[in-house]
Amino acid sequence: MQVDVLLGLQWGDEGKGKIVDVFCPKYDLIARFQGGPNAGHTLEFDNKKFVLNTIPSGIFNDGTLNLIGGGVVIDPIILKRELDNLRTSGFDPVGKGTLVLARKAHLILPTHQLLDAASESKMGAGKIGSTLKGIGPTYMDKTGRNGLRVGDTTLPDFQERYERLKAKHLEILSHYGEIPDFSEKEAAFMEAIDFIKTIPHVDAEHLVNNYLKEGKRVLAEGAQGTLLDIDFGSYPFVTSSNTTTAGACTGLGIAPNKIGAVYGIFKAYATRVGGGPFPTELDDETGEKLRQIGHEFGATTGRSRRTGWIDIPALKYAIMLNGVSELIMMKADVLDAFEKIKVCTHYKHNGQTIDYMPYEIITNQAEPVLEEVAGWNQDITGIRSKDEIPTALKNYIAYLEKALEVPIKYLSVGPDRIQTIEL
Ligand code: GDP
Ligand code: IMO
Ligand code: MG
Repeated sequence: MQVDVLLGLQWGDEGKGKIVDVFCPKYDLIARFQGGPNAGHTLEFDNKKFVLNTIPSGIFNDGTLNLIGGGVVIDPIILKRELDNLRTSGFDPVGKGTLVLARKAHLILPTHQLLDAASESKMGAGKIGSTLKGIGPTYMDKTGRNGLRVGDTTLPDFQERYERLKAKHLEILSHYGEIPDFSEKEAAFMEAIDFIKTIPHVDAEHLVNNYLKEGKRVLAEGAQGTLLDIDFGSYPFVTSSNTTTAGACTGLGIAPNKIGAVYGIFKAYATRVGGGPFPTELDDETGEKLRQIGHEFGATTGRSRRTGWIDIPALKYAIMLNGVSELIMMKADVLDAFEKIKVCTHYKHNGQTIDYMPYEIITNQAEPVLEEVAGWNQDITGIRSKDEIPTALKNYIAYLEKALEVPIKYLSVGPDRIQTIEL
């Protein structure tokens, strides 16, 4: 058996949570492989809506085990809150034994968040627009070989290790100015550490590979999106992990030749939250219309998302990096109100027409070359089968498939589970 991977091809918030929830009955294990509570994955079914930050989106299917993998960074306070909220809504993954944590996953400390905030405020206008969840500083401690991991929480000297790392952080913070009081947060952290000890800790790389050996089906769930990848995204306006298929290998301990289908998710247009280049951004009424109809406000921070037209060169880049075998197009219904839709086919850059994202995109915005296509201009939210798809939407799908050279296998026409069509 091989591991299928599902990940975002744009700047995050493509609708990964919804599709993992739709797919999970077909899988024995859903494994988050990177990122942390900077993610907000939304699921809707039976008139209920949930936003998950750390917990994999297979949690509502009783027959599926959910793993928070070693490549993930965990804020114990947020994880506890997510589980408390689920319990209030009648779901108890811990009681049911459907959630496990990788021993090698790193922990986000309260002082990591203070470092995130201090670093961002120092950058002023050039700031990244981080979610301020402490992601960057936690991955810095991981690669700097200072981090604390889930498995450390049960060691007899965990408290000393914590104090050592905290002291290092306080030393750095003292250079930024006055350190805010975080005693309440620290108490909540220690309480949450006790709580996460009640969730099984596993050697995730063995668990995943044993599942494959036993013929069980595994789906790796990405967070963020390809254009936020630490190596291949619009650096430095990126997150601090590998959001690409390669990140599934390192985050879960799977060999590259064990990767099966790669599902690439994209919106029928484009959004980005936080700073950084966005060639097709619409800073006008059309952009506002997309934002309002698409409810483009962050699931985690509530921030307004920047909006724009779909960007073919950026999508082709993401498809190449991930080895995408099947595409999933989300939020097509948001374009229902548009008579004409625009598609970015190329960029103009330094007087030339190019079909890839240039390195200099950070300092010298590439200008999009846009092509206009006909909209379907009708309500598609009630469509449940491919036979009901309006001709203009079929044409848009065919147009994108030709440009992207990968088949679009699913179409999403609304936030609910049932608003998903297999093509
Ligand atoms: P994720 O981070 O990739 O899981 O995506 P988010 O949950 O942050 O953002 C996607 C948003 O779009 C959520 O509010 C979803 O409920 C919503 N959504 C998902 N699919 C569709 C769709 O096909 N149409 C519409 N209108 N909304 C959708
Ligand atoms: P999901 O999984 C959209 C963005 C932030 C910021 C940059 C760095 O819901 O798609 P960080 O907190 O990682 O230091 O922020 O990355 N960002 C996301 N944007 N969706 C996300 O996750 C994101 N996670 C981080 O806005 O620009
Ligand atoms: Mg999101």
